[in-house]
Amino acid sequence: MASRKPIVAGNWKMNGSVELVTSMADTLKNASNNKIDVLIFPPFPLLSKALESGIVAGAQTVSQEDAGAFTGEVDAKLVAELGCKYTLVGHSERRSIYGESNDDVAAKFEKAQQHNLTPILCVGESEEQREQGLTESVVSEQINAVINKLGVAALVNSVIAYEPVWAIGTGKTASPEQAQQVHKFIRDEIAALDVVVSQNIALLYGGSVNDQNSELLFAQADIDGGLIGGASLKPNAFVNICNSAQRNA
Ligand code: 13P
Repeated sequence: MASRKPIVAGNWKMNGSVELVTSMADTLKNASNNKIDVLIFPPFPLLSKALESGIVAGAQTVSQEDAGAFTGEVDAKLVAELGCKYTLVGHSERRSIYGESNDDVAAKFEKAQQHNLTPILCVGESEEQREQGLTESVVSEQINAVINKLGVAALVNSVIAYEPVWAIGTGKTASPEQAQQVHKFIRDEIAALDVVVSQNIALLYGGSVNDQNSELLFAQADIDGGLIGGASLKPNAFVNICNSAQRNA
């Protein structure tokens, strides 16, 4: 039997403030989220404040290095030491703006797990790739970079977020059917290697999720929650999204 607990995670990207941490913490305290895990990925300087405020918080990225002369980078060990349990790896903005390759992302994934952080591996195709019918091969290559380096067992303590690049920040959400189709593809690919791992891994959808479309997305069989950008900056909308995951849990 599968034992997947839904996750709703807010990725604040380079947004947010001390004040937003406080209002998010207050709003989340009054919400009942006992059947799901709720996480926030704020900018690094807000991590301690978020954790102290009772928010389950994680890093938006970590370095693939342990320590040293890497100005501006943050290492996984320090993130774990603060009390974080999760980090995103391979978000599409890290891939496209900062040039992270599939190999870099796999190295970050490994480093996160070495320091007991659960990596949320972000994958997804561009609009052009979708139009060319490359969605499955792109997603599969992004996931296989991790499996080839670390083995399918490495997916046990991880989460995968499918975020089609064309749906991120555009207001163009994948339809529940489109999203489910890719999620099922991902689960089937993993099942071909290990059925138990495939049944237990949480697969999140991300890309213009809001409190109007979350209910139908989370009702899909292989969608185990969401990775939310813009709507996670509005505490009430974010709690509404959490509530739809809670109803579908
Ligand atoms: P939006 O929800 O703003 O489209 O962002 C999605 C995302 O990139 C979350 O990581």
